Amino acid sequence: MSTTTQTYLNAIANRRTIYNLTDALPQNVSVSDIQAVVQSIIKNTPTALNSQENRAIIVTGNTHKKIWNSVINAIPGENGKKRPTSARDEAYGCVIFFTEQNTIKKFQKDYPAAASAFPVAASATTGAVQINSWTALETMGLGCHLQHYNDAVRAALGDLVPESWTVNSQLCFGSQVIPAGDKTFIDNPVNIYN
Ligand SMILES: Cc1cc2nc3c(=O)[nH]c(=O)nc-3n(C[C@H](O)[C@H](O)[C@H](O)COP(=O)(O)O)c2cc1C
Repeated sequence: MSTTTQTYLNAIANRRTIYNLTDALPQNVSVSDIQAVVQSIIKNTPTALNSQENRAIIVTGNTHKKIWNSVINAIPGENGKKRPTSARDEAYGCVIFFTEQNTIKKFQKDYPAAASAFPVAASATTGAVQINSWTALETMGLGCHLQHYNDAVRAALGDLVPESWTVNSQLCFGSQVIPAGDKTFIDNPVNIYN
């Protein structure tokens, strides 16, 4: 295996869920570095018929805090507030991923025979963008965890993003405090049949 392939596989294997974060970026990483990385991933991750419905924003500082405050307030019961509270207080920021729905509607209209396939493909491509971003941020020395407070986040965003952008997830990032623990794997071979 080439070293390029091994490096790529290592990055995939090293991407983990890190909940214990501090509200800081590692040395030599700036928010504009994160922006450049996510921008490149949004551009180069493929979409069905090159439809390009993936969108993302990065929130930090007051905007990050305001969004997570809204999420905390929207959740009933103390237990459910724990994760969004840690996102607000311990993450430096988050990348919010969206699907631009007018693009989906246009492709459904232009390709009626495949209309039902576009939302499924949109779900696949946003997943690819999210995990590509998560992996890339890990290679930059950040710790990340992925959250899905989508309705509350959408409500908190108001007109910061167009109405046609639906929220898919929030990738919270900061500096790692405690590394990820061991992970167990099922026996799951990829067989070759000739
Ligand atoms: C599609 C997807 C959705 C996930 N949703 C959440 C979530 O809503 N909240 C959360 O804390 N973790 C979420 N996770 C993190 C998973 O629980 C985690 O990736 C999994 O347990 C494997 O651990 P690892 O990320 O350390 O490899 C999600 C992961 C994936 C891939």
